[in-house]
Amino acid sequence: MKKCRICNGELAAFLEFGKMTLANAFLRPDKLSGEFFFDLTACFCSSCCMVQLLDQPPREKMFHSEYPFFTGSSKKMTEHFRDFAQSVRSRYLSSGDPLVVEIGSNDGTFLSNFKSWGIRHIGFEPAENPALAAETKGIRIFRGFFEADTARRVLAEAGKADVIIAANVLCHIPDLHSVLESVKILLKPGGVFVFEEPYWGDVLSKVAYDQIYDEHVFLFSVLSIRALFERHDMEIVCLEPQATHGGSMRFVAALRGDHPVDPGVNRQIEIEMARGLDRTDAYRDFSLKCEASRKRLRDILLSLKKDGKRVMGYGATSKSTTVTNYCGITPELIHSICDTTPVKQNRLSPGAHIPIVPYEDFETTLPDYAVLFAWNHSREIFEKESGFTRRGGKWIIFVPEVKILGREDIYDSVSSVIS
Ligand code: TMP
Ligand code: ZN
Repeated sequence: MKKCRICNGELAAFLEFGKMTLANAFLRPDKLSGEFFFDLTACFCSSCCMVQLLDQPPREKMFHSEYPFFTGSSKKMTEHFRDFAQSVRSRYLSSGDPLVVEIGSNDGTFLSNFKSWGIRHIGFEPAENPALAAETKGIRIFRGFFEADTARRVLAEAGKADVIIAANVLCHIPDLHSVLESVKILLKPGGVFVFEEPYWGDVLSKVAYDQIYDEHVFLFSVLSIRALFERHDMEIVCLEPQATHGGSMRFVAALRGDHPVDPGVNRQIEIEMARGLDRTDAYRDFSLKCEASRKRLRDILLSLKKDGKRVMGYGATSKSTTVTNYCGITPELIHSICDTTPVKQNRLSPGAHIPIVPYEDFETTLPDYAVLFAWNHSREIFEKESGFTRRGGKWIIFVPEVKILGREDIYDSVSSVIS
């Protein structure tokens, strides 16, 4: 049995998905052979409470030249990162010529705000496509992973950072000790390390098992993050829950004693203990709920197929790879998945081989039902697609529970999903 990546404690498996492929390995229809599979198993460390994968594929297989995720593809995420940047600027950038460093800066959606304000910035980004997209916007990118030697190179060139940011990045990195050592190389005394990541508490309460996939080697609670940072003489000084990615937490960390600790941090720890996030029972309960969710979604899709209904997927998210493969959803059950990202279009979904089609096909295919794989963007999508339910189309959602939603459920009732 493998040991915890953070504290070397014993790992207990609580959800086994079996053979799974890479969430973002969209396939060319003419190149189906040699698809990579690994055993996807979620574990819990009873010593430090960190939720993690038993095995993770090599990072070069996941973050390569064709990595298809672009933050800027969602309008709401772009707005979120503008607000985030404004909050960082007003709260943490007081010195004369501050430097903001972002770990995993993707297409530069977050840093573009600092560029427009004339604030020095550098983004670390190893994936070529998003790095190129950021550079095209005039954003300074260091092409590579964030490690001690790359941090030292940026330090020599630009000096220490007032703020280091990471958004939806830390949960991807297996060696978090190396990240924190590198943060300490580059962070100014009195500086802060602000990161936001999908929050394990939300995954549990929403039965959002689709947050578990190859790239998310960890899913964080405040308990597990506190244990990690303590090992590096750092502490969490502030928490801010976020609605992004279906429920995230923004953590503000600093060197121990550099900043006062907000009382909300201990309050959240108490909430997590009361919910049993430090005990195996909560994990067993979660896995039973995942099994029930899988059965219900599959049963609905099988019955729609029997009735000759046309079902399409909406949003070829990373998370959808877990759902389609775990629930055995094949092209016989879902005709195609529409997505706005050009590099995903005209490819096949990883493992399940469902065709990915341009977003415009959602209009022309006229599906009877659409499975909302991009459920974390539901508000944006329901606003945009009011015409779909107006002509009788129905959404199938599976988080927080498997449900079919018609127009009256979303737009017409007082307790509507969109309000
Ligand atoms: P994410 O859940 O990892 O942010 O990925 C969202 C995916 O959904 C991405 O491939 C873009 C796609 N998408 C659409 O196709 N239409 C939309 O309206 C939105 C918001 C996202
Ligand atoms: Zn541990």
